[in-house]
Amino acid sequence: MHYHFKILVLLKILQSATPTLPQIILADNKPLISSATLSHCPSKCGDFDLTDVYPFGIGEGCFRPGFELIYNNQTEPPELFLGDGSTKIVDFSMHSAHNYVLVDSPVYIPPQGAIFYNGSWKVPGQSFTIDYDRGASFTISGCGVQAFVFGDYPNALIGSCATDCATNEHYVYECYISIPGGTKDFHLEMTPSETQNRSNMDNVRAVIGTNDNPGLVLSWRITDRPTCKEAEQDQATYACLSAHSECEDVAQEIYGYSCYCSGHYAGNPYNTDGCQGIVCMPGEKADPKDGKCIKNGKSPLLGILIGVGSCSATLLFVFLCTTCCQQIEKIKSNKDPQH
Ligand SMILES: *[C@@H]1O[C@H](CO)[C@@H](O)[C@H](O)[C@H]1NC(C)=O
Ligand SMILES: *[C@@H]1O[C@H](CO)[C@@H](O)[C@H](O)[C@H]1NC(C)=O
Ligand SMILES: *[C@@H]1O[C@H](CO)[C@@H](O)[C@H](O)[C@H]1NC(C)=O
Repeated sequence: MHYHFKILVLLKILQSATPTLPQIILADNKPLISSATLSHCPSKCGDFDLTDVYPFGIGEGCFRPGFELIYNNQTEPPELFLGDGSTKIVDFSMHSAHNYVLVDSPVYIPPQGAIFYNGSWKVPGQSFTIDYDRGASFTISGCGVQAFVFGDYPNALIGSCATDCATNEHYVYECYISIPGGTKDFHLEMTPSETQNRSNMDNVRAVIGTNDNPGLVLSWRITDRPTCKEAEQDQATYACLSAHSECEDVAQEIYGYSCYCSGHYAGNPYNTDGCQGIVCMPGEKADPKDGKCIKNGKSPLLGILIGVGSCSATLLFVFLCTTCCQQIEKIKSNKDPQH
């Protein structure tokens, strides 16, 4: 507590002297990103609780490069965006096995009378990809249109579909294209379907979202080093800052790593004091060494070991005593004849 207070005072002094926040570097070359150094950061944006979202954050000194958040309080309710300034955040998932951010679904609408449309999408930053597990899906709606989705790197067809244009007015003309998890960019090309005798794409729209979810789920991870092994070698940039944090490679063939709190610790592994000991069940206490909950008092195994130990000691003592006494008897009897 006292330590944090001192840092706070130091920060206040430095803040008043310079407009930018200096990064405090600890003796082991690790940057100090703690609840104290982040205490000046905005902790709320509309309904979003931003008290413990580092590496994300709003404003100078509050985020790791690539994880800036932008706050627009001109709207009601206020809106929160990723660092690109245009990707609107719907929801966050922090400190779980799966880090993700849910953003507004991109929507593509060809202009009036268009006979060809080309819309592109790119991740809002190198730390993001389309959710690994869930992937994403395009829903193309409107009558008589064909759609093709191509990956930009490599430039290959991801999928295609075409909608009908029957005369039934109540029919919903839709078709779908799946986008694999891990995708970082693609473009969508649409034209009126030849077989459906359509001259333009009026009333056609394409929305990309995650199955059964309003919005697009993006996975995020730390990407300034490809693997944990390489990241750990540079303590100045290593993101797993908490004492009880561990590093995990995101997946084979995908660049980057994530951090998590080890054992029975929970909280924010990206923050120096973020991983906190867990609360144990009644009758248990936290073992400070490995963060696991252990039973209060002697463990049964320890009791057995002590029991076995003292029993062997007694046996050894009896044995030594008997041997010793026998030796004394021998010495005595050896000496006896002289008497
Ligand atoms: C809106 O944001 C600005 C700067 O980000 C801040 O100074 C201001 O107090 C905010 N207004 C409200 C109503 O929260
Ligand atoms: C559509 O746009 C992408 C880039 O966003 C480009 O690579 C592609 O060639 C374009 N397609 C056509 C048919 O112009
Ligand atoms: C296609 O549209 C044109 C003009 O609207 C019409 O004259 C023609 O009969 C249509 N053909 C078919 C196969 O529907």
